[in-house]
Amino acid sequence: MPFNKITAADISFFKSVIKEKYVLVDEENLNRCASDQTEDLHYLPEIVLQPCTTEEVSNIMKYCNEHTIPVTPRGAGTGLSGGALATFGGVSLDMKRFNKILHVDKRNFQVTTEPGVITQELQEHLKAEGLFYPPDPASKGSCFIGGNVSENSGGPRAVKYGVVKDYVLNLEIVLPNGEIIWTGANVLKNATGYNLTQLLVGSEGTLGVITKIVLRLIPAVKYDLLLLVPFRSPVEACAAVNAIFLAGYTPSALEFMERDALEWSMRFVQSTGIHLPDDIAAHLLIEVDGNHMDELYRDAEAISQIVQQYNTDEILFAESHEQKQMLWTLRRKVGEAVKSHSVYKEEDTVVPRAELPELLKFVKELGKEYGFSSVCYGHVGDGNLHVNIVKGAMSDDDWKTKLPHGIRKLFKEVVRMGGTLSGEHGIGLVQKEFMDIAFSDVQLLLMKQIKYVFDPKDILNPGKIFMS
Ligand code: LAC
Ligand code: ZN
Repeated sequence: MPFNKITAADISFFKSVIKEKYVLVDEENLNRCASDQTEDLHYLPEIVLQPCTTEEVSNIMKYCNEHTIPVTPRGAGTGLSGGALATFGGVSLDMKRFNKILHVDKRNFQVTTEPGVITQELQEHLKAEGLFYPPDPASKGSCFIGGNVSENSGGPRAVKYGVVKDYVLNLEIVLPNGEIIWTGANVLKNATGYNLTQLLVGSEGTLGVITKIVLRLIPAVKYDLLLLVPFRSPVEACAAVNAIFLAGYTPSALEFMERDALEWSMRFVQSTGIHLPDDIAAHLLIEVDGNHMDELYRDAEAISQIVQQYNTDEILFAESHEQKQMLWTLRRKVGEAVKSHSVYKEEDTVVPRAELPELLKFVKELGKEYGFSSVCYGHVGDGNLHVNIVKGAMSDDDWKTKLPHGIRKLFKEVVRMGGTLSGEHGIGLVQKEFMDIAFSDVQLLLMKQIKYVFDPKDILNPGKIFMS
């Protein structure tokens, strides 16, 4: 679909819908919205619009649909698959002014929020009311809840509490033609027609613009304990993961960091908090939570006994709030630390949990074959391993032409193991060339037909998820 460029008449129209100061064409704002956290990608939009009501979004969408102008919704720009990048120019629809928590319904354990609220701020607001919204992506201090819904984000707590989809009850969305709908109802059970709510969750801003979100909440949990377990082999660390579950324990977080991941993160945040003996090759960061401290101590002790069968060094029990914070900061900063270290590509592989040791071995063998090094970390309790492929000394040519074959081989193996391409970062721009590995032509056609029903002119976040 050939798109139209933005004209002076279009700009005048946008200024009639939203205040002039929210219609932005200055270099700084265009540049700000040209990137997210995905590699070093940069695609300039032609204009940035910052509406703050559903009606304004509706008017913008209706106009852009009629005039065949592409619109790319944007949250906080923390995405890792290029979903917020305006690859065809047009409008970057910056949702930052949708920043209000609209209604906390304590009686029903629900919250209605706008999409531009920072996830951690939402969590803290709810916690003060004794309510708990668990999903906690690494970027929780800066990402928006709307982006989390669009990408179906996860984070460390997913292993016990589930991912974003498990909390979304209902969404107000603006369709590409400007119509406004709610996708479902504010209920815990719903067997009424197709589940449009869950279709929208994780649709990466390609089916509708989310303007209100109703989330299910649970009661706040009182206590947690945190353990850092050093291993002499990363494969053994991965093998220990499954043993914990087989013994009947479900930690509230079960995170893996290869040695480089932790070491680079410590350097990045200038922390000397962890002693790293030379023979330590990986760590598991394990959290248990609940309302009874004595039970938590018993669980932590039992988990320690289990993991010690996998060639561990001395386990660190985080004692203070500060020490826990330090460990979580180190874990959350791994991605940024790798990014600051080298040009890289981040794969978001996910396999059935028991296959993790084989996956890790495969990644390392593949590195030898294709000449790359990798830093692996992630949510191993969910079988979700982030594989950061570091360019290091690889030539530009090999990086561009040879590496994609290596990544293809990785994904084929992941799918063979019963896994898939992305656990929580989405497909967006950077993984779409691999979709044929996870899906047949028939499956892809079904998905493209769904996109067509919502957006026949393909103006909403075009160029994402599918190759064409
Ligand atoms: C993390 C992000 C990269 O787990 O998903 O740190
Ligand atoms: Zn992650």
